[in-house]
Amino acid sequence: MMNRRKFLHTLEGGLAVTSLAGLALPHVHAAGSDQIQLALVGCGGRGGGAAADAMMQSGPPKLVAMADVFEHKLAGSHNALVNKFTHQVDVPEERRFLGFDSYKQAMDCLKPGDVVILTTPPAFRWVHFKYAIEKGLNVFMEKPICVDAPTGRRMIALGEEAKKKNLKVGVGLMMRHCRGRRALREQIQRGAIGEVHTMRSYRMQGPGGSAFTDPSMRKEGMSELMFQVSRFHSFLWLSGGLFSDFYIHHIDEACWMKDAWPIKCHAVGARHYRGENIDQNFDNYQVEYIYEDGARLFFYGRTMMGMKNESSGFIHGTKGLAVASLGSHHLAKAGRIYAGQNMDRSKETWSFLKGPDEVAPSPYDMEWKDLLDAIRDDQPYNEVERGARASMVTAMGRFAAHTGQEVTWEEYQNNPHEFAPGVDKLTLESDAPLKADEHGKYPVPEPGLKRDREY
Ligand SMILES: NC(=O)c1ccc[n+]([C@@H]2O[C@H](COP(=O)([O-])OP(=O)(O)OC[C@H]3O[C@@H](n4cnc5c(N)ncnc54)[C@H](O)[C@@H]3O)[C@@H](O)[C@H]2O)c1
Repeated sequence: MMNRRKFLHTLEGGLAVTSLAGLALPHVHAAGSDQIQLALVGCGGRGGGAAADAMMQSGPPKLVAMADVFEHKLAGSHNALVNKFTHQVDVPEERRFLGFDSYKQAMDCLKPGDVVILTTPPAFRWVHFKYAIEKGLNVFMEKPICVDAPTGRRMIALGEEAKKKNLKVGVGLMMRHCRGRRALREQIQRGAIGEVHTMRSYRMQGPGGSAFTDPSMRKEGMSELMFQVSRFHSFLWLSGGLFSDFYIHHIDEACWMKDAWPIKCHAVGARHYRGENIDQNFDNYQVEYIYEDGARLFFYGRTMMGMKNESSGFIHGTKGLAVASLGSHHLAKAGRIYAGQNMDRSKETWSFLKGPDEVAPSPYDMEWKDLLDAIRDDQPYNEVERGARASMVTAMGRFAAHTGQEVTWEEYQNNPHEFAPGVDKLTLESDAPLKADEHGKYPVPEPGLKRDREY
């Protein structure tokens, strides 16, 4: 059957819109209907945001199932989504699921070709992705998609399985879908700033998410496992720490602009005024990533109060400077090129936005448009390998800072330390994979002392 979008494409461009993959493999479109159904696994801030972004697309998609491990998170997210999308949220009590197995029940509500949104802490990504592939579901999953090298390798293998089943998989590195950054990258690849030799990226802000934890945050009656899950940015096994969770965007953006992954890195990092905090994060990090051609990416991350804040990304070439990010994941005032190495307005040679009032489309919107277009047009779409590579390259920088060693990609990609083996077998009653000592403190990285493991 030719759906509406295929019909329009055929009319507009005479394009052969049915891909070879589509001819050879089952068509994984929502069976019997063009309306895509969604299930949300992980009903927190981003999960609600991603479901909303999806439901604002044409179609429009409909949310039919939700899963979480905390009732209040699921209820809060459900209320907010129903208020905004009254006619697109159809999640009665019997399709709201709780517990570590809830992902299965939510995905069981979908038909092959529907979309599951995976927005739990990343420790669970491979477990949920594996089941989505078994069920023949298309997937949108948030970054990072792994927390260490073994889970990264597992995700790459799963990504290949998804390809074989012609499933479409989007990964929430949304800046790659930002139209302004795509155009900027094309300019760089065409040589507009000459040869890229240095990149600088910054994520410096006050404490964010659940990255800093002190003992008073333990809730009466909550198990150790659920305490850690509720504070996931604080624990490496759950999130890869604040480093992986916050910094992946900036590191991936630079690698994408240069169209290369680094071959090695070294890094520094430390804890400063941490008082009674018991999380595993450092307060600041600096990583020097080194590329095969000798170019460098200098990444600066800091999560402290009362200091200079910055969130930006710059690419320096032999002929000029490209600005990929300025203060936001949205394009905002970035997407510009200057002759020379300064952001000197009189030397601006290119800008994606053509006037002061023009606003670029949201990358969060575009990542859903691109995924849903690929599903409806049955085009190949699988962002897993680069999502895993970005997650692992980020983790490599974190590993270098936490151990104090220079690390090559060859070494890191084969690193054997899996933080939490058996995460697929957890139940609400399980012990936590990470144990506190007799003072209630968790192991923190000790660079130079612990050299081959982060803790
Ligand atoms: N692309 C972006 O700009 C962006 C922004 C924010 C967050 N994120 C990513 O989204 C993910 C979630 O982050 P968040 O800020 O929404 O966190 P959050 O704590 O608000 O939400 C996570 C939700 O997952 C639930 N959960 C935890 N373990 C679960 C499990 N095993 N099964 C089912 N539910 C489970 C939690 O109870 C919580 O409701 C992270 O990977 C984060 O990096 C991406």
